[in-house]
Amino acid sequence: MVSVSAPGKLMLFGEHAVVYGKHCIVTAVDKRLIANLQRSKDISINSMDYKIRNYVLDKLDKLPSELKFVSSSIRYFYDKYRIKGGVSIATGGTLKSSYGLGSSSAIIVCIIKGLAKLFRVPLPNRTLFDVSYKINRLVQGAGSGFDVASAIYGKTLNYVAGGKVIQKVKVKDLPLVIGYTGIKAHTPTIVKEVANRYRENPEYHDDIFDDIDKISLKAKDEIEHKKWRKVGSLMDKNQELLRKLGVSSFKLEEMVNAAKDAGAYGAKLSGAGVGDCMIAIPDGSVEAVKDAIKEAGGQVISIKVNADGVKAN
Ligand code: PMV
Repeated sequence: MVSVSAPGKLMLFGEHAVVYGKHCIVTAVDKRLIANLQRSKDISINSMDYKIRNYVLDKLDKLPSELKFVSSSIRYFYDKYRIKGGVSIATGGTLKSSYGLGSSSAIIVCIIKGLAKLFRVPLPNRTLFDVSYKINRLVQGAGSGFDVASAIYGKTLNYVAGGKVIQKVKVKDLPLVIGYTGIKAHTPTIVKEVANRYRENPEYHDDIFDDIDKISLKAKDEIEHKKWRKVGSLMDKNQELLRKLGVSSFKLEEMVNAAKDAGAYGAKLSGAGVGDCMIAIPDGSVEAVKDAIKEAGGQVISIKVNADGVKAN
């Protein structure tokens, strides 16, 4: 049997701008998706998260939508590497799909890495990235692939779409408070909405994306020097630009403002916006920032960041 695990992610800086060729900073979180694979007669899938038991994958079957990342990964790998023989796959772990922490990219990476190991196909990380990113785009359409890179390489990365830049940010730990809005955001829809607005007014958006790019690159340096007050102030600037892009929301604003009022150095939404999570860099009083986020109706989620990338054994 092969057992693989991959981390979820949190966007720190540069969301949306990264889709337009700019830099972003992403960190891996210690919630992990797990896939266990073994050779078998059929191709079958068990998923605890989606309560799917022994689903047998057949070329003619109409697939349940919850399985599209798993099934597309299997099909792509079987076609590309001309695999014969079955596999039984069970997925689970602590990375649930509800917080928007990147469970779909983590599952693609786990399946591809696991199949490669099981069927002895040599797959260095760069190839694993290229294959996984392709599947991600096939299923989801748009997307920069920052989540795929994070699932593979882990830690904290400076990233440009398509893997043009995948560079480790030299940091051991980041002091972060994470608040969940309770609202599930649908990333492809929000990315599409931004694209529609971009077409109407490209200059306006290009200026914003250029400014976000500068912020992300500056943030990389400040993170590496552990200048948390400065990192916080860059978060505030990034949030202002995300607001101008129209991807913040009343709830996100309330949580961000509450964190700031409680003394956080800075706060912003994380990811596509509208819902999902916000992040804050607390000053000394971590508990005060957490309490303020809760009072604003958010759910504080305790996760460690800068986690390891994909692992197989
Ligand atoms: O919603 P999330 O956490 O998957 O983040 C989306 C980030 C975007 O930049 C909006 C899209 C992307 O693929 O980079």
